[in-house]
Amino acid sequence: MTYVFKTEGLTKRFSGFTAVNDVSIEIPEGGVRTIIGPNGAGKTTFFNLLSGALPPSEGRIFFRDRDVTTLEPYQRARLGIARSFQITNIFGRLSVAENVRLAVQAVSDGKANFFLPLKNARAVGAATDRVLNDIGLWPARNTRAENLSHGDQRRLEIGLVLASDPPVLLLDEPLAGMSPTETHETVALIQRISPDRTIMLVEHDIDVVMAISTTITVFQTGAVLASGTPEEIRADERVQRAYLGELA
Ligand SMILES: Nc1ncnc2c1ncn2[C@@H]1O[C@H](COP(=O)(O)OP(=O)(O)OP(=O)(O)O)[C@@H](O)[C@H]1O
Ligand SMILES: [Mg+2]
Repeated sequence: MTYVFKTEGLTKRFSGFTAVNDVSIEIPEGGVRTIIGPNGAGKTTFFNLLSGALPPSEGRIFFRDRDVTTLEPYQRARLGIARSFQITNIFGRLSVAENVRLAVQAVSDGKANFFLPLKNARAVGAATDRVLNDIGLWPARNTRAENLSHGDQRRLEIGLVLASDPPVLLLDEPLAGMSPTETHETVALIQRISPDRTIMLVEHDIDVVMAISTTITVFQTGAVLASGTPEEIRADERVQRAYLGELA
């Protein structure tokens, strides 16, 4: 089986405290690959190690057979590893479509070019429309970004990352703070964009996790407790004891 990520003995310590402890796993290519676990289990730290935001204390990270352990975040982004950032990346005074177009242009030629050849301009327009449709914000394309609801701003944030059409996308709690309707729409968005890429997800909403995950990896105190399909995880006695007791 091909994998997007493989870690070997991956460990992260913060002044003596071990947040990620000797994790050796493979994340298969494609689908929604979810990480769950109690607060403080090391999920966000693990994402930070994969994206290069944090250097590991020990261990190695492979991206499709390539050792990326020492690569900077921008170098990993160039390889196709994208993560969503905070709403601060959005230009509030610009429309939704203008925000997406800027992100598309940023990856299409490195910087905004006001004398784009027509063909390139058409390509930018088509890519912008594709992203607007993917994130479900086509109807709101002319709305100023600052006037969007919290949930729509978070979907726009995902859209800015999708502008580069990344094969691997890391989403850390994309549903946090969303209303039920916004949650529903964002889950649909994740499902819409997942067939062609690998989505790595950290999420606490266990109903959503069970519904959309291809596989689930359970973290506990910095280590992997279990890994498997939603059905396997639901049936796993160790997981039930440690984390999913209420689902038993
Ligand atoms: N920069 C840091 N310095 C010191 N300790 C840190 C740092 N980042 C994380 N930690 C600690 O590492 C542990 C794991 O944190 P992490 O954010 O990875 O957990 P998490 O699984 O994402 O939790 P949550 O579900 O609450 O988001 C926590 O105990 C946290 O306090
Ligand atoms: Mg976290």
